[in-house]
Amino acid sequence: MPETFFITTAIDYTNGAPHIGHAYEKILADVLARFRRLRGEEVFFLTGVDQHGQKVQQSAEKQAVAPQELVDGITAKFRGLWDTLGVQYDQWAATTDERHKRCVRQVLTRLWNETDPATGQSRWLYRKTEGGWYSVRQEQFLTDKERGADGEFGPEWQPVEFREEENFYFRLLPHKQWLLDLIDSRPDLIAPEFRRAELRNAVEKLEGDLCISRPAARLQWGIPLPEEFGAGFVTYVWFDALVNYISFAPGYDPAPGAVLGEFKRFWPALHVIGKDILIPAHGVYWLIMLKALGFSDAEMPRLLVHGWWNIRTASGGSEKMSKSLGNVVDPAELAGRFGAGALRYYLMGDMTTGRDADFSEERLIQRFNADLANSLGNLLNRTLNMARKYRNGVLCAAAPSPDGDAFTGPEGKAVDLAALRERAAQAVADYEREMAQHQVSQGLAAALQISAAGNELVEKSAPFKLAKSPEPADVERLDRVLYHLAEALRIVALLVSPVLPEAARAIFEQLDPEGKLPREFRLGDARWGGLADGHQLGAPVPVFPRIEVTPA
Ligand code: MSP
Repeated sequence: MPETFFITTAIDYTNGAPHIGHAYEKILADVLARFRRLRGEEVFFLTGVDQHGQKVQQSAEKQAVAPQELVDGITAKFRGLWDTLGVQYDQWAATTDERHKRCVRQVLTRLWNETDPATGQSRWLYRKTEGGWYSVRQEQFLTDKERGADGEFGPEWQPVEFREEENFYFRLLPHKQWLLDLIDSRPDLIAPEFRRAELRNAVEKLEGDLCISRPAARLQWGIPLPEEFGAGFVTYVWFDALVNYISFAPGYDPAPGAVLGEFKRFWPALHVIGKDILIPAHGVYWLIMLKALGFSDAEMPRLLVHGWWNIRTASGGSEKMSKSLGNVVDPAELAGRFGAGALRYYLMGDMTTGRDADFSEERLIQRFNADLANSLGNLLNRTLNMARKYRNGVLCAAAPSPDGDAFTGPEGKAVDLAALRERAAQAVADYEREMAQHQVSQGLAAALQISAAGNELVEKSAPFKLAKSPEPADVERLDRVLYHLAEALRIVALLVSPVLPEAARAIFEQLDPEGKLPREFRLGDARWGGLADGHQLGAPVPVFPRIEVTPA
């Protein structure tokens, strides 16, 4: 049975347009999913949109449209973008979907009905009235964090009034020690490692429970609480949104005692999330919610926490991307100008998973031109050109070699074909290790070692001179060099395919116009010797044309 891999992303808020932060996360998850498929694993990739909440309700009011109309329009933008960028998910999670709403209500009912025999009350939820300072303008309760230096709430919150409100709460505090123990006993719970201490500290400081309802009087755009809770409440947007990971999972059923065979074939998931939503949402609320639903410690998901894309400023500094600064980068626009592949490559290649990075269009162009146009693209082009010119595109795999793998090229440089094969094997191993640890930029760097080695081989062996030499040994050397270059290209194409699926396909079309190689890419095929003796190569067509920018 193949191994299974369940991957999710955060579901994006539909109160604004998608930006490169959203795009990075979806591409990262897509790349990890494609890598697992390349390894032969069975993958389920879930992503979607978070459509409820106060912000959507407010934006809809401002624009005088129905909230559903507003979120439908923005949702279409997200889905269109994922199509453009080649993000291939298995299931779309939209929180206004009936399937999801039903599941959230079943979860709430289950938690409400699970009573403590001593009190007859729910073990997980309770009802309470609380008072606090409420901003009428922003339609939210305020905490001391919102107070200015003078201790007052600033004009952006005014008018502010003291209000009492009855709500439902989800108990967090009784589970504090359990959560600390979980963090300590499951080193794979959270990556990168430094986030573990951060979460641990936050849990130690945990002081209150989670309010999971909003009175319908101030928020209508949400999932109404089930009947057991009485009328007039909707579900708090985070409690609603987090449930998407199970409501859209294959085979999940929230009924107590349900048989979850199909579900457990994939679960636990790897949740890919940004650093801002680890604490408290995923690291505290979600884990305790799962515990309440009967998930064991071993069934807790893994959290892969990525950093943020900031913006590189003209002076070389870094600033946060924000609407008010007007520096938000639109991924659709970038893909339109440079191509989806260029954007995927840049976002994956220029960020170390878990760390922040600075977006710069200049870097995007520079990386594309250096790594893809000049290195990989150039190797493809020159290899196919030379093979066509000197051998009608036909490879000779088993050319006898009087001098084995090592010879001195026509320009006096030492050529070592065995070293190239070893470098390729090492690169494949490095690639697999890095990708399995979600380090895509390092995985890519390992893969591109092979095209660098191929280009070095061209420089050292000077095939254009070998081709002119009348020596029989040089005729054979040329065959061996061309075979090595084509093999290097075949292997690099397999390795980069999760990041650059279309380019990898295009490279295969050119390397193998007769369709002799399997088109279902497998990492197991990244072994030396896949091209047969007498294999016919195709004509070169640029896959990575250089990005030329005319200076302003
Ligand atoms: N709707 C919630 C998530 C609910 S998950 C059950 C949310 N939405 S969001 O649209 O604000 O953010 C979606 C994802 O994008 C989050 O993982 C967030 O960290 C990520 N990013 C938002 N801005 C980002 C950058 N500038 N850079 C990288 N990722 C960032 O949070």
